[in-house]
Amino acid sequence: MPLQIGPYQLPSKLLLAPMAGITDRPYRDVCRLYGAGLAASEMLTSDPSLLQTRKTQLRLVQDDEPLPRSAQIVGTEPEVMAQAAQFNVENGANIIDINMGCPAKKVCNKAAGSALMRNTSLVKKILATIVSSVDVPVTLKIRTGWASSNRNALEIAKIAEDQGISCLAVHGRSRSQAFMGHAEYETIRQIKQAINIPVIANGDIYSIEDAKFIFDYTNADGLMLGRITHGQPWIFKEINDKLNGHFLSKNIIKPISFREKIETTLTHIDAIHRYYGTDQGVRIARKHIGWYLYNLTNQDQVLLKKLKRELFTIADAPTQLNHLESVLNKL
Ligand SMILES: Cc1cc2nc3c(=O)[nH]c(=O)nc-3n(C[C@H](O)[C@H](O)[C@H](O)COP(=O)(O)O)c2cc1C
Repeated sequence: MPLQIGPYQLPSKLLLAPMAGITDRPYRDVCRLYGAGLAASEMLTSDPSLLQTRKTQLRLVQDDEPLPRSAQIVGTEPEVMAQAAQFNVENGANIIDINMGCPAKKVCNKAAGSALMRNTSLVKKILATIVSSVDVPVTLKIRTGWASSNRNALEIAKIAEDQGISCLAVHGRSRSQAFMGHAEYETIRQIKQAINIPVIANGDIYSIEDAKFIFDYTNADGLMLGRITHGQPWIFKEINDKLNGHFLSKNIIKPISFREKIETTLTHIDAIHRYYGTDQGVRIARKHIGWYLYNLTNQDQVLLKKLKRELFTIADAPTQLNHLESVLNKL
């Protein structure tokens, strides 16, 4: 059965995880190209004084992006978050995603992100206020709980369903685990059994085998991929193809050639330069170049170090792109 969020039937059951500083417009585009069924924006502040800054404007979903466009918001106050949700809808978002999964100190000191999971009555108020303030589907992303000893994700999941949330993504770690240890999927399995809205499993999917195991174990309606996508956006197609039948609504199987991977890398880096402008673009491109090289050199550490040294000192965008092209053509 295809994955449905509100009126939107998604083209695949593999979703791109929102990642601050990474899932910008060029990244969302390249992941969608390879079959990400949904690619939410980086998390957006709810602070009205920051909505017009260049940084926020670049992070918003764009109205020429394919539908549905999901904007992720983070905050602590129901009314302020509802206004941020409305702002994003007015700016072209068709889905509002609420971040209750981020463990970052900056967010949690304000008791936002996953810190909110401690306060279930506030969670309820936030969800109810946002759902009633916009006429688009509202989705929620959570962790398994505030602390490993207090995994209350099941309780939050039931609140989410009751308050009209259209889809729930669960990262199989507690807030206190941050990114340490390994994700667990038992909580996600229990949530899937307990509620009727779509449940998306997330956390530590690093291979096609992981994807298959987690999909089968949790019986989730979809999977969300985060770090595995770095420097290999084609992983969406590779997983979709391998698990064909489970995951794909359109069955097209064609392996991705090395040449195509090189071309995708260059197109993505060029898109970053164009999106941010060459000065900022050249800096933002570096981490992506590092990730692409990691994958395209088959993790050859010595070669990787040498290429990174060469490429990371370049401060000019066209030179960065040209040098990258010549490096990749020699691989
Ligand atoms: C660099 C980075 C930034 C992230 N930013 C966000 C964010 O803005 N919102 C959010 O809900 N989760 C964020 N996450 C968490 C991811 O969405 C995801 O839940 C987590 O990485 C686990 O999935 P993975 O093991 O597939 O990477 C971030 C993760 C990383 C690595």
